[in-house]
Amino acid sequence: MEMPAIPQPTFYIFKCEQSSPPGMPKPSCVTQESRDLFGYLSQNMMQKGLMGPVQVIRTSCLGRCQMGPVMLIEPGHHMYCQLSKEKIDRIVEEHIIGGNPVREFLIPDQFWGEPVNLSQ
Ligand code: FES
Repeated sequence: MEMPAIPQPTFYIFKCEQSSPPGMPKPSCVTQESRDLFGYLSQNMMQKGLMGPVQVIRTSCLGRCQMGPVMLIEPGHHMYCQLSKEKIDRIVEEHIIGGNPVREFLIPDQFWGEPVNLSQ
């Protein structure tokens, strides 16, 4: 018996959930003010019926701590920075549902240069 194919997710959202220990000078994505963003994003997805086609994943540090809170959307290597609930609302509407990345919320180029070509 042939099994039906399970569709790939349309998007993966990797939300950095790293927090620094108290007193650590290095910035991190999860602070007292930003700690509910993952829950907010997940709830937003559920309410819109997007869970499944969109996989929301907690990650540790994505290496852009000074621009946090950050999340990476694949495909496309779209890194969103300095997130807030308002930004998440627009990213879900315009990028996830509408298919158009919200350019003004993407990390600046000086923090997100072209990837290193490993085949040379
Ligand atoms: S702590 Fe989030 S990118 Fe480093």
